[in-house]
Amino acid sequence: MGYRDVYEGWKADPETFWLEQAQAIDWDEAPRKALFDRGGGLYEWFADARVNTCWNAVDRHVEAGRGDQVAIIHDSPITGTITKITYAELQSRVAALAGALKAKGIEKGDRVIIYMPMVAEALEAMLACARLGAVHSVVFGGFASNELAVRIDDAQPKAIIAASCGLEPGRVVHYKPLLDGAIEMAAHKPDFTVILQREQEVADLIPGRDFDWHAMQEGADPAACVSVEGNHPAYILYTSGTTGQPKGVVRPTAGHLVALNWTMKAIYNVNPGETFWAASDVGWVVGHSYICYAPLIHGNTTIVFEGKPVGTPDAGTFWRVIEEHGVTSFFTAPTAFRAVKREDPKGEFVKKYDLSKLRAIYLAGERADPDTIEWAQAVTGKPIYDHWWQTETGWTIAGMPAGIEELPVKIGSPSVPMPGYDVQILDEAGHPVAPGTLGAIAVKLPLPPGTLPTLWNAEDRFKKSYLKHFPGYYETGDAGMIDEDGYLYIMARTDDVINVAGHRLSTGGMEEVLAAHPDVAECAVIGVTDALKGQLPMGFVCLTTGVNRPHDEIAKECVKLVREKIGPVAAFKLCVVVDRLPKTRSGKILRATMVKIADGEPFKMPATIDDPAILDEIRTALQTLGYAKEPA
Ligand code: COA
Ligand code: AMP
Repeated sequence: MGYRDVYEGWKADPETFWLEQAQAIDWDEAPRKALFDRGGGLYEWFADARVNTCWNAVDRHVEAGRGDQVAIIHDSPITGTITKITYAELQSRVAALAGALKAKGIEKGDRVIIYMPMVAEALEAMLACARLGAVHSVVFGGFASNELAVRIDDAQPKAIIAASCGLEPGRVVHYKPLLDGAIEMAAHKPDFTVILQREQEVADLIPGRDFDWHAMQEGADPAACVSVEGNHPAYILYTSGTTGQPKGVVRPTAGHLVALNWTMKAIYNVNPGETFWAASDVGWVVGHSYICYAPLIHGNTTIVFEGKPVGTPDAGTFWRVIEEHGVTSFFTAPTAFRAVKREDPKGEFVKKYDLSKLRAIYLAGERADPDTIEWAQAVTGKPIYDHWWQTETGWTIAGMPAGIEELPVKIGSPSVPMPGYDVQILDEAGHPVAPGTLGAIAVKLPLPPGTLPTLWNAEDRFKKSYLKHFPGYYETGDAGMIDEDGYLYIMARTDDVINVAGHRLSTGGMEEVLAAHPDVAECAVIGVTDALKGQLPMGFVCLTTGVNRPHDEIAKECVKLVREKIGPVAAFKLCVVVDRLPKTRSGKILRATMVKIADGEPFKMPATIDDPAILDEIRTALQTLGYAKEPA
């Protein structure tokens, strides 16, 4: 069956389609029904089933005789180590950790925050929570204490599992002081923490609150898998919205299992036993779905890579890992390839390695620019598949169904909608537009299994953010179009979210930080185009009357403040003091126009602008940062 048949088959009878995919999962009680309509635009999948995620990701493979297969390879060019863990070893390690957590009172439904670098133990912590039916929330290691504190207060975890440190090239990230700072800042206090001591930095533990990862497990009985309802939350993952308060995306257990398992063959075209590699971080949705859960649920070997595309030690790292571990499908972000391309434009490093097992390369997380795709294709000789999805969906909305049918690639498009997604382009009034016309990208409800049913403790925000604007649809927050052949094109976000090196960040969140600087009266943050990272945040601050300190000094303080409050991952390094911000007569800051000026693109003078002269002031300020070249 080709893609069209599969897609139309799903559309004609989604219930049967998803119940069929559900057969690949080991249920404690099999679902009798797939979709549950809860009214008001809310849906759940497989709510009447009972199941355990860890059983499906680990134990069942051991039971099926695959215990000796490697489940996780930790490859760390930063520490110069490679460690392999078989499914049987993973089962005993996860059961032991879960047993220790259980002995400390962690039960089904309790939240556990995980704040860890790219080590195999991060996956073990996630799986140990899943084993107990506890709800994990992984927080990316590049976030600062304040961001961690916000998540602690929202998720109210009983425990936090962390490592003593993370390792960035040339820099040890001191996790423990960040963790201590966050717990101090947060109103909610966890009962205890579990600390994995890494040899690069041994952290001081607070007696009675902090427990050593290994010591805590001594004498604890291994825990069995706890059966949970199909709609039980598997995890919460916070992602950027328009404000500094992140959205807690809820991932439901059963839909997550069914959908992710389906994608491994249909999209990534891998068979159980083969090695799959997603070079992301466990702190992002790509890490949740494609470093941890999907490859393990599907019985693949997954790679936890602690390194960067360049500099660890060179631009050949990706190709070395692919050869050394026999990777068949590789998933990375375009920004990573841009970094490699910059250092190795001719692909000299690629030639040194045997990539014969690699079938295809998958890109996501940000727009894949044609130059990068063409370069990757030319140097590797492999198909490069762009695919588009979001934290909210947890898996591909539009992509190449390579395991079903290899459709022609159209560079610039992430290809076609996956079964489960009825993608439509809408005008402002919510009417579908003709092919080739730009509009808001929306998905007709219900969304498929595995996608978010709601936001954690914030159902109203869920409805307001995603369902209200276009009744009957899920609003993706992206704008784009569909061509005559049904291929989708993603052009831009429709909100204040920007994408920096494949990391999703909120300009609104950064503005909140800048506004807290005592000398700042008003501010705006925009995303400007960057050749390496796709976009970079840039801040404009107006000072409080009477402040006459050097502007450079204040701009530097602003940069430091964002790094302290949000974290290094915000990559906020461009900030300038201006007298005024361009606004409409009703007072709305004209951010989109500022972006156009910064990028040197032609723009139309907004009809509603209050004072056009301000745009010249903005242009001059941008030129001091090396931006706002005159349009060609
Ligand atoms: N813990 C602590 N700090 C982190 C971190 C982590 N897990 N990840 C990144 N950082 C820090 C970096 O060290 C850097 O700090 P610096 O300002 O002191 O240099 C800062 O956050 C910005 O990081 P990043 O934007 O990733 O840039 P970089 O210079 O470290 O690397 C690339 C540039 C292009 C090589 C890198 O961005 C990359 O590989 N990106 C891949 C993106 C990706 O996989 N995204 C996942 C989405 S699927
Ligand atoms: P995240 O939730 O961090 O995965 O970010 C999701 C957002 O990243 C999407 O809403 C898009 O704006 C952007 N994005 C992800 N993948 C792609 C892609 N393949 N092409 C264009 N934009 C993408």
